Amino acid sequence: MVRPSMRRVGDTSDDAAERAHASVPPIRRARDEDVASLVEVLARAFYDDPVASFMFAGERRRWRGLRRFFGIQLRHMYLADGEVWTTDDIAGAALWAPPGKPKPGWRDLWHLSPLLRELVFLGRRLPDAAGLLAEVDRRRPRQPHWYLATLGTEPARQGHGIGSSLLSPVLERCDQEGLPAYLESSKERNLAFYARHRFEVTGQLDVPRGGPRLWFMWREPRPPTLP
Ligand SMILES: CC(C)(COP(=O)(O)OP(=O)(O)OC[C@H]1O[C@@H](n2cnc3c(N)ncnc32)[C@H](O)[C@@H]1OP(=O)(O)O)[C@@H](O)C(=O)NCCC(=O)NCCS
Repeated sequence: MVRPSMRRVGDTSDDAAERAHASVPPIRRARDEDVASLVEVLARAFYDDPVASFMFAGERRRWRGLRRFFGIQLRHMYLADGEVWTTDDIAGAALWAPPGKPKPGWRDLWHLSPLLRELVFLGRRLPDAAGLLAEVDRRRPRQPHWYLATLGTEPARQGHGIGSSLLSPVLERCDQEGLPAYLESSKERNLAFYARHRFEVTGQLDVPRGGPRLWFMWREPRPPTLP
């Protein structure tokens, strides 16, 4: 179990954020038995996400699609082959792929097949959705990096430092090991949040016909300062 990292003594730049941070529950690696709760938390966190609204038309389909998607991500991708961080009381999760993880192969595509049932309802928007997925994949940098696949906090608990704490173990490791990190964001509001964690926008994608806008963000490591 890891205590969320606190700012250095003497750093008084943001006392409110510091107080919020102090109330964050301890964070830890997620386990198989957390999956059902994590799926629900992530589905709630992403219910109003522009990509989720675009991909899964209609309320019931969106809940079903989000639950299936996060179930697949957790069970078949990131718990086994990546790192999943959560809080002791499962108030959010960060799902990471380590550097060098090969792109999804046939086995992963097979696991994704239950999602197709939801996506076919897109009708004429299906090519745009397929184009979005292909473009996201194409833009993924080739340079080795930690990939933040998903970050979400329980909606009622957002803005209290949980998301920042969930990012910290891997970002600290990135700095120690000199490795960059990468993510895609579909909410403009998140850009400032990620900028505070030293991610920079490197590109943007507008999905045609009123689809969502995506931002691509990259973070160079900063070596820990010597004492
Ligand atoms: C983005 C997210 C993970 C941040 O988690 P969090 O626990 O609220 O993060 P923190 O408390 O450490 O930081 C809060 C900051 O996040 C940003 N933020 C984005 N959406 C927010 C929301 N709905 N509520 C509060 N803060 C939000 C703000 O910049 C906020 O800073 P502020 O207090 O100065 O406005 C969380 O808001 C979330 O789950 N959003 C929905 C899913 C999502 O968009 N995930 C990111 C995909 S790229």
